[in-house]
Amino acid sequence: MFCDNTVMSSVSCVQMMWSVVILLSTALSVESYTVPDSYERLDHGDQLKIYLPKSAEMLEFSPADNPSQTYLYWQKSGHRLIKGRVSGTVSDRHWYIDTVTYQDEGTYTQRDYWRKEISTVKVAVTGEANFVTCKVGENLRISLQGIDLADATLYFSGEAGNFTLVRDGARVSQDLPDYFDRVVTQHDSIIIKHVNYTDEGRYTVRNRRGREVSATGMALKGWSLFAIFTSTDHTINKTR
Ligand SMILES: *[C@@H]1O[C@H](CO)[C@@H](O)[C@H](O)[C@H]1NC(C)=O
Ligand SMILES: *[C@@H]1O[C@H](CO)[C@@H](O)[C@H](O)[C@H]1NC(C)=O
Repeated sequence: MFCDNTVMSSVSCVQMMWSVVILLSTALSVESYTVPDSYERLDHGDQLKIYLPKSAEMLEFSPADNPSQTYLYWQKSGHRLIKGRVSGTVSDRHWYIDTVTYQDEGTYTQRDYWRKEISTVKVAVTGEANFVTCKVGENLRISLQGIDLADATLYFSGEAGNFTLVRDGARVSQDLPDYFDRVVTQHDSIIIKHVNYTDEGRYTVRNRRGREVSATGMALKGWSLFAIFTSTDHTINKTR
């Protein structure tokens, strides 16, 4: 934009600029109903929360591994809710998945009444990393982070060895003498009962496709830290 001072006084030039600014800001405030696109990186098992502006009529999902597919997850009219849950008031409404899995990776698109795109949220999911300390004799609980037990494989890796403890929900640990009746499967978690030194190490949960859902390091309280920080001649390790 430029002003030609030879045909306009500087005052009217300023007035014209202001009216252009006002026109622009009017246009912007209309556009401000649209929410900018965003990216979210979540740990497996985290909550996904998407803001639904007042103008949002529907929420669609295209999976990352099959972007040409589109699924309707929520539609305001008719109160259709195919996946997730919606809560909040009209002016502050959100759509949620309480525990995301790799299947929820992809693009979430909000559309208005005329099916015009309001915003998109691209969601990527990564495996969760944890570290826990237990006392000897305690139970170690490993969350399945929202995947079905039937899809879960639990692998242990430590000084005592490398073992698959649960495969596709089944307790293959029953064939291992040190684990007999110590692994308990539940719909949302796997429990290692009465942990002891041989259980120190890394527990990895994978889904049916072999993707890492979580990795949990477990060390025994007191003992390990003591061993790491004070053992100079390995006598402590030997007594194990
Ligand atoms: C833990 O292991 C140690 C060494 O093998 C053993 O002496 C102790 O009884 C075990 N404790 C429990 C609670 O199983
Ligand atoms: C466990 O696997 C790792 C590599 O995956 C290997 O380095 C280690 O020696 C194995 N431990 C045992 C006790 O077999």
